[in-house]
Amino acid sequence: MSPPFSSLVLGGVTCLLYYRLIAHQQGCEPPPNFRYKDPIFGLDCALGTQFGIPSIARHHSRYGKTFASKFILDAQINTCDPQNIKAIIGGNKEWGVAPLRLPGMDLFCGEGTITSDGPAWEHSRGLFKNMFRTSNIVHFPILNLATNELFSHIPIDGSTFIHTATQFLLGFNSLSRSGDPQNSRMYGDIGSFVRDFHDAMFYCGLRIILGRLRILVPRMKVEKAFKSSHEFLDFHINEAFSEKISTASADDGSLVQGLIRQTDDRIDVRNQTIQNLMAASDTISILLSNTIFLLSRNPEIWKELRREIISTIPQAPTVESLNSPGLLRNVLFEALRLYPVFPLLGRTSLVDTKLPTGGGPSGNSPIFVPAGTRADTCFYALFRDEAIFGPNADEFNPKRWDTIKPDSWIFMPFGRGPRSCMGKEKAMLEASYVMVRIARKFERIESRDDRDYRAEMKLTCRNGNGCKVALFEK
Ligand code: HEM
Ligand SMILES: *[C@@H]1O[C@H](CO)[C@@H](O)[C@H](O)[C@H]1NC(C)=O
Repeated sequence: MSPPFSSLVLGGVTCLLYYRLIAHQQGCEPPPNFRYKDPIFGLDCALGTQFGIPSIARHHSRYGKTFASKFILDAQINTCDPQNIKAIIGGNKEWGVAPLRLPGMDLFCGEGTITSDGPAWEHSRGLFKNMFRTSNIVHFPILNLATNELFSHIPIDGSTFIHTATQFLLGFNSLSRSGDPQNSRMYGDIGSFVRDFHDAMFYCGLRIILGRLRILVPRMKVEKAFKSSHEFLDFHINEAFSEKISTASADDGSLVQGLIRQTDDRIDVRNQTIQNLMAASDTISILLSNTIFLLSRNPEIWKELRREIISTIPQAPTVESLNSPGLLRNVLFEALRLYPVFPLLGRTSLVDTKLPTGGGPSGNSPIFVPAGTRADTCFYALFRDEAIFGPNADEFNPKRWDTIKPDSWIFMPFGRGPRSCMGKEKAMLEASYVMVRIARKFERIESRDDRDYRAEMKLTCRNGNGCKVALFEK
C-alpha cells in the first residue's frame, strides 16, 4: 500500500472505531440495516423511496420504525418513530436542513427560510413573522374571485375536470399577494411565470434528490428555468421598491411589500420571496385535489359534508365558521393524514448526536448518529399507524376523528417545532373556504378515474395521476 492510501485507510478505521467507542459508552446500539439488492450505492432503497412513498412504509413494517440505509456513500437513518421524529424536528441546534437543501437550491434562491439554519434562518423567519397574522392571511374578496375563476374552468355538465384548474387557482391566488392584484401586466404573463417557477422547483427538487450526483442535471437548463423566474420577480420587486414611499404606512399588505419595508437588498427580497412562494404555491392545491379525490370515491360523505356545510356555515363564510371543528375539518385532516403534502421531512445532523430509540436487537436502545448523517422522518408511515389512528388506517374515514385525539407530536401534517409551517392557519382557512364553495355549488361528485393515488415526489408530494372527477350541480 502506498503511504497516503494506507494512512487514509488507517484514518478511516480509527474514525470508525472512535465512533463505535463513543456510541458504546453512551449505551447506543445501531438500528437494523436495510438489506440491499444494490449494496454499493444503495440505489434500490433511495430510488424506491423517491418513486414510491408507500415503499418506505413497507420497509418500516419490515425493518421496524427506525432503520439505517445509505445513498451513494452517505449514511442515512429512516424513522417513523414519534420519539425519534421529535428528537429530529423538535429542535434546530443538532439537526438542520442546509446541508441537504442549500446545495440543490442556492442557485435559485440562496439562503432563506427553507434553505438555511442558524442565524440566516432566524433572520428569514423573523422577516415574515408579522405577515402571518389572521387579518393578513385571509382575503375573502381575493379568494372569492379565485374560486369563481376555478368554477369557470369546471364544466358543470359532468364532464371531467383536471386538477390544473385548482392549481391555477391557487398558484395565482397565492401569487396575488406577492404583487399588486390590480397589475394587469402581472396577470398577462402569470401563466408563463407559473410554468417557469414549476420548472425551477422541479430542478431544485431533482438536484436535492440526486445529492452528490446533482452535476448530472444539465446546468444550462437549470439556469434557464431559474433566470426566467428571476426576471419576472425582479420586475415586480423593482416596481414595489419604486412605490415604497406611498405604501410605507401599515404593516399589512403583500409579502413583497412587507419585505421591502425591512430591507433594501433586492436580491435578498427576491430570494426570500421565492422561498415563501415555494412553501405556499402548490401545497393548498395539492390538499384540495387530494380531498376531492377522496370524496369522489366516497359520495355518501360528500352528501353529508354538503348538508353540514349548508346548515352550519354562512353563505359568506367567516374565519370563525371556517375554523370551527366538524366534518369539514375532519375531512381535511383525513386527506392530510392519508396523503401528506410532505410525506417525508429530511434533516441532517449538524453535530454528533443521539436518537432516543430504535437501536439494538430490542429496538429500544438509543442510536448514535455522527455529524453529517441524513435522517428522513416518514409522516406517511406514522400517519397510518393503526395503534394511533385506529383500525383500517389505510382507509378514508373522517369519522375516526370523532374518537381519536392524536398527540400534536404525532399528527403533524404541518410539521412541528421551531421550523413548523408558517402558513398552517392560512392553508386550513383557504382549503376550507374553497371546499365550502364547491360543496354549496355541487350536489354530486363522481370519480372518473379508478386508478389508485400515485405518489409523485418533487419538493411536495402530489397524486401523479391527477384528480379526475365530475361535478354535478343537480
Ligand atoms: C396544505 C398546505 C401546507 C402544508 C401541508 C404545509 C406543511 C409544511 C411543513 C410540514 C413544513 C415544515 C417543513 C420542515 O420542517 O422542514 C412547512 C414549512 C413552511 N411552510 Fe408550510 N405547508 C402548507 C402551506 C403553506 C402555506 C400556504 C404557506 C405560506 C403562505 C406556508 C409557509 C411555510 C413556510 C414559510 C415554511 C418554512 C418554515 C421554516 O423552515 O422555518 N406553508 N410547511
Ligand atoms: C440570493 O440568490 C442568489 C441565487 O439566485 C445567490 O447567488 C445569492 O447568494 C443569494 N443571496 C442571499 C443574500 O442569500
